[in-house]
Amino acid sequence: MKKVILLCASPRPSGNTYQVLEECASVIEEEGLEVEIIPLVGKRIQSCIACGRCSELDECSLDDGLNDIITKIRGAEGFIVGSPVYFGTARGDVMSALQRIGYVSMATDNFLSWMVGGPIAVARRGGQTSTLQEMLMFYLINDMIVPGSTYWNMVFGWAPGDVQDDDEGMKTIRRFGYNVASLIKKISE
Ligand SMILES: Cc1cc2nc3c(=O)[nH]c(=O)nc-3n(C[C@H](O)[C@H](O)[C@H](O)COP(=O)(O)O)c2cc1C
Repeated sequence: MKKVILLCASPRPSGNTYQVLEECASVIEEEGLEVEIIPLVGKRIQSCIACGRCSELDECSLDDGLNDIITKIRGAEGFIVGSPVYFGTARGDVMSALQRIGYVSMATDNFLSWMVGGPIAVARRGGQTSTLQEMLMFYLINDMIVPGSTYWNMVFGWAPGDVQDDDEGMKTIRRFGYNVASLIKKISE
């Protein structure tokens, strides 16, 4: 079965980002694909140290659990990343994760190439656009396919659960999930 990995960058286990990804995952599942949400909660993701050993090891040299996530992404057709906005940017550790995932892909078998997905930004009030742009850089340099939606992938909320009241935001995410699933099915025909 085709699979989509959804990486959740929030440190809050049932926070807004997680709830948005759950909504996205439920649509993808309805379309007949398998989903797995992977939270970064409790992980201490380090930044790339530019050792260049990924080509020789076929994985990252840093031993902080990211290689388990990389293995799961390798086995999937879709990859979505959701992050809360912190001071107008994505949470720091998710960018560290994306940079290392991308470098391992480039140094090995380009497993990200033609994977379908995209970024989602969650915030109280502002900075979603710059956060989306920041994470989009990962997709576009790794030969990935990013579908659109009926608005940009941003959902508004402060306290956990607030995002459930952002009807337009959630509708945008549901459409995005549908588009990701439909594209995966199309290109697999
Ligand atoms: C360190 C920090 C910085 C933040 N910076 C912003 C910001 O720039 N813009 C904004 O609208 N919200 C900002 N927020 C609020 C969060 O983005 C918001 O509460 C979001 O819903 C958190 O998602 P989560 O529940 O998935 O963790 C910030 C929160 C924290 C903890």
